[in-house]
Amino acid sequence: MMSKVLFQKKQTIDYKLMMNVKKIACIGAGYVGGPTMSVIAQKNPGIIVTVVDLNQARIDAWNDSDLNNLPIYEPGLADVIEEARGRNLFFSTDVEKAIDEADMIFISVNTPTKTYGKGKGQAADLKFIELCARQIASVAQSDKIIVEKSTLPVRTADALKSILDNTGNGVNFHILSNPEFLAEGTAIPDLQSPDRVLIGGENRDAIEALVGIYEAWVPRERILTTNLWSSELSKLVANAFLAQRVSSINAISELCEVTGANVDEVARAVGTDSRIGPKFLKSSVGFGGSCFQKDILNLVYIARSYNLHAVANYWEQVILLNDHQKSRFAEKIIRDMYNTVNGKRIVFLGWAFKKDTNDTRESAAIYVADHLLSEEANIIIYDPKVTAEQIYRDLDYLGTRSSEENKRLVQVVEDPYEACKDAHAIAVLTEWDEFRTYDWKLIKEQMKRPSFVFDGRSVLDSSLMESLNFTYYKIGSDVNQK
Ligand code: UDX
Ligand code: ADP
Repeated sequence: MMSKVLFQKKQTIDYKLMMNVKKIACIGAGYVGGPTMSVIAQKNPGIIVTVVDLNQARIDAWNDSDLNNLPIYEPGLADVIEEARGRNLFFSTDVEKAIDEADMIFISVNTPTKTYGKGKGQAADLKFIELCARQIASVAQSDKIIVEKSTLPVRTADALKSILDNTGNGVNFHILSNPEFLAEGTAIPDLQSPDRVLIGGENRDAIEALVGIYEAWVPRERILTTNLWSSELSKLVANAFLAQRVSSINAISELCEVTGANVDEVARAVGTDSRIGPKFLKSSVGFGGSCFQKDILNLVYIARSYNLHAVANYWEQVILLNDHQKSRFAEKIIRDMYNTVNGKRIVFLGWAFKKDTNDTRESAAIYVADHLLSEEANIIIYDPKVTAEQIYRDLDYLGTRSSEENKRLVQVVEDPYEACKDAHAIAVLTEWDEFRTYDWKLIKEQMKRPSFVFDGRSVLDSSLMESLNFTYYKIGSDVNQK
């Protein structure tokens, strides 16, 4: 029955349009565009894929012959680049040429939360998307399929279509929504073996053209097709649900600390219920990343704009709880350290928003640091993949204090043991695997006493920490209840 339906469907496909996809352009060579296009190129050696970006330095890094210098760190990415780059995968700043030549154009530019005007702090800033649309419209001389890859508010496709149709050269544009579900740190396996690929659109031939590209490696039954709006909304909802699970378990972590329960045990007990499932129940210092907060704020903004205040308030709580989790971690550090961290050496292990990425967007570490710096702590930061420039940029971006002041209070180091020498406290902000394997005995010997460890990711072995006489706290089970 299933195969019959598929067969009938295939009969009506416009193979001309499908076969016309010989060249793909992707605008935006970031965390989404770069890895996604690399895998599409790897799996479709017959299609030329050109990734373009305005940022020359970023493109140079993508083209660097030393694969250690790629602009983003993702396990497995270098191998894919090595295989496809120069064969059918290219990185360039010539945006117009790529648009002109492409049959299909992915838009993977950033859509940060607005920092000005209407919707400030909530709505997605679509200025980069609009610029892309205008550029595509002015350059295109042949029909194109436009694929929204960036996460966008529902009905952005309407705006895109209107700009393209009204400012274009009379060519046809078919708009598809194809949200990306990859998670950073696991982008390559997520892309190579996705739970599902979602394609929303109105034109069946355009949809099938994109299905054809994914079918090169994704089983057909995992490629879901919907209407445009369902696809756009599903991306926001998927992220909102995931973030909600993290906030839910984080809410319980605080309760565990006062009742003597252990949040990891609770998560295990709850997660083994097959209706609930074990994933995204890891209590932490708070979720970060470029998507969760932005997408929920977006959802809240959309709900409010339709006067659905109960809906908006419900989802807003996920963010408020996350903010609470970050600030209560900072407050805990201050409280345990005798209510003052002024001039004290506090080491941050980790700055990235999660392990296996150099991305720091919305990382909890930024906000915990800011809180402690306002109390005049000295913070020494070690992260295996994040650069010092990025860390200072993150802090300066908050605008809480001058750049000179951030430089005075914060030191970024390359050796974790050096960092921990003479420290009053260590705070674990990212769950990098290497933290587990450090010589904690040596670290303890070189720290000040009492030697505080605040484990915001529950990565360390609590019995080891206690046996070494650390004053050890981990989120969700306060072994040193005061
Ligand atoms: C997320 C979605 O997972 C992905 O599908 C979407 O395309 C983009 O947004 P990402 O932000 O890269 O991906 O990472 P994710 O693994 O979802 O983690 C987000 C944040 O939640 C991180 O700060 C992580 O440390 C935190 N987290 C995650 C927890 O604190 N506990 C968990 O159990 C899971
Ligand atoms: P994401 O996580 O969504 O991939 P990034 O910020 O990592 O976000 O990447 C988005 C990329 O899009 C940036 O490198 C930025 O320079 C690029 N970009 C934004 N607007 C344009 C544009 N109009 N043309 C080309 N590149 C653009």
